[in-house]
Amino acid sequence: MRQFVIVGILVVLMAILTYVGLDAAGVAKQMHPVAASAQAASIDQLWHWEIIAISFLFALIVVPMFYSLIVFRRKKGDNSDGEHMEGNTSLEIGWTVGPLVLVVFFAYFGAYSLGEVRRADPQALEIKVKGQQFTWIFEYPEYGIVSSELYLPVDRQVVLKMESTDVIHSFWVPEFRVKQDVVPGRVTEYRITPTLEGSYKVRCAELCGTSHAYMESPVIVTSQVKYDAWLVEQQALAAAAQTPEGQGQRLAVSNGCIGCHSIDGSPLTGPTWFGLFGSERQFADGTSAVADEAYITNSILNPTEQVVQGFAPVMPPYTLTDEEIANLIAYIKTLK
Ligand code: CUA
Repeated sequence: MRQFVIVGILVVLMAILTYVGLDAAGVAKQMHPVAASAQAASIDQLWHWEIIAISFLFALIVVPMFYSLIVFRRKKGDNSDGEHMEGNTSLEIGWTVGPLVLVVFFAYFGAYSLGEVRRADPQALEIKVKGQQFTWIFEYPEYGIVSSELYLPVDRQVVLKMESTDVIHSFWVPEFRVKQDVVPGRVTEYRITPTLEGSYKVRCAELCGTSHAYMESPVIVTSQVKYDAWLVEQQALAAAAQTPEGQGQRLAVSNGCIGCHSIDGSPLTGPTWFGLFGSERQFADGTSAVADEAYITNSILNPTEQVVQGFAPVMPPYTLTDEEIANLIAYIKTLK
């Protein structure tokens, strides 16, 4: 009996020490970035309870093991057999009921948390999301806006209707906690209520190709007033974009071109569009050409034919109309 009391006390001490250690290492609470959504609260709470359970189970295994190793060590010169044992009913009941209670507790808590995360607000703002190698495109159907940045008003539930044009991606904003796959051929839903104004990033959390690591876009949570101002600004831009260059710019956003091709000269997955038109291109196969209309058209329709030196042949072919291609080229011509 004395041994059980000692082990019991040691288990409790070890569990507390483990929890404190995990907490100090930043696992218990600070491992996550700041919580920026209403859904984050119940997820973080569940995580916290799990860390407590993990600390206790760790102590429950490690302490009796090392205690037995040290205290019940074979004495020098003792070659007799160990005591014969024929089961222990109370121990068996204990290790059946204990875990059962724990599992039921976490099942209940998990289901509760899932219910909180999935709770749908009929007033939710609907935004369409398109995931494609290797960029995100956001469409605000009510306003006719297409954007490469996700703008959200604070304290209002938004439901993202997400589609993929190629492979499986995964929409993940760590600050919002919730993660949802984006699967070709179906529409997946992602509900979130942002509660904290700020700039975040959506990352792709499903390995989707060579530039998967760079598949991220800004997510901006602002006040309703600033959000409304942004909508007006975007609508004005859309209205002004009736010229070929303007149409081309919209195409560059809605097709995700600018996810891989910068417009300011910085290198991304693909070559920049800045100063592209009329420049001399060196290709991976040693040939070269001047970037004219024919070259750019071919690069859109058959992207792996003339691959610029230093870049991987990862761009998928795009089927655009002649007019759309002409508009895109008109836009590219303005980038110098
Ligand atoms: Cu898209 Cu990884």
